[in-house]
Amino acid sequence: MERILSGIKPTGKLTLGNYIGALRNFKNFQEQGECFIFIADLHALTLPIDPLELKTNSRDIAAFYLAAGLDPNKCNIFLQSHVSAHAELNAIMQNFLYMGELSRMTQFKDKSQKLNKEKIGLGLFAYPVLMASDILLYDATIVPVGEDQIQHVELTRDLAKRFNHRYGDTLIMPKAVVTKVGARIMSLSDPTKKMSKSDEKGDIFLKDDPKVIRKKIMSAVTDSESVVIYDVENKPGISNLLTIYASLKNITIPEAEKEFEGANYGTFKKAVADAVIEEIEPFQKRYQEIIASNYVDEVLNRGAEKAKSIANATLKRVHDVVGLL
Ligand code: AMP
Ligand code: TRP
Repeated sequence: MERILSGIKPTGKLTLGNYIGALRNFKNFQEQGECFIFIADLHALTLPIDPLELKTNSRDIAAFYLAAGLDPNKCNIFLQSHVSAHAELNAIMQNFLYMGELSRMTQFKDKSQKLNKEKIGLGLFAYPVLMASDILLYDATIVPVGEDQIQHVELTRDLAKRFNHRYGDTLIMPKAVVTKVGARIMSLSDPTKKMSKSDEKGDIFLKDDPKVIRKKIMSAVTDSESVVIYDVENKPGISNLLTIYASLKNITIPEAEKEFEGANYGTFKKAVADAVIEEIEPFQKRYQEIIASNYVDEVLNRGAEKAKSIANATLKRVHDVVGLL
């Protein structure tokens, strides 16, 4: 039986990129094995964040999970900080990942570049250690992530291998799984940049009003030709819209291209906007209903209890092999 685990960091506002690259696929995983989906709130502290914003975001993500079709009876939904084993395993695992490899992580290089060198938090540098601990604690076999997180899962595999080599088979080897279409949704205003949670007009946020969503898509940056074909290098804007359309319609890129043969950009963009709104509007409605009730807290409390029982068993196994009494 597969053990599936993934998480989202509650920083910033969730985007259509998060939805297509992560959220939307989670409900399929609960049918494929034992499912653990959490909110990586400890990871959110690796860059400065307002406490109230962190709390709101954490609850929002839980509500988004539920609105996206995760069923708490089939999948454990919980907060990372509610299960202390994450921090405890992190304390042990930090000895088995090396400064050299951590300093080569793309995410660390990107994020630390923007900071004063003297003020790069240790947590930001050690981010992959905590992420590896998240994964290894649950003996996860499958880790669904967006493209940008593959490197961290690969590092987790290196760590598991290194640890098992030294102490005997203790940790389960996880595998990253990336959604094929839509693994990397780009910004609508600069399609050479990933759509991310920073507040920009090129991002579609999951809480945006459908009118705003339509406006953002209609004004997406494209090129001066008028052929709808997938060509990331020369037509990044159109390619990105094709990716969004194909993923939401569950079709391939060539199928989407065919659908828009001979169409002008206006017609194409309108179809993309319709597809996005058709999916996001009911999702937003479910989110509103969930967030207005106590359901989120109930789900998180229940999820933490189950998560603790599994995580503590792994922690105990690790304590034993490394020689902790
Ligand atoms: P993050 O927003 O970086 O915390 O990512 C949360 C999840 O959403 C991860 O699985 C990411 O890989 C995925 N994700 C974030 N942004 C995008 C994007 N623009 N396109 C596709 N997936 C994304
Ligand atoms: N680092 C992931 C991101 O930024 C979030 C995350 C934390 C995660 N721990 C994880 C994802 C464990 C998968 C498994 O998207």
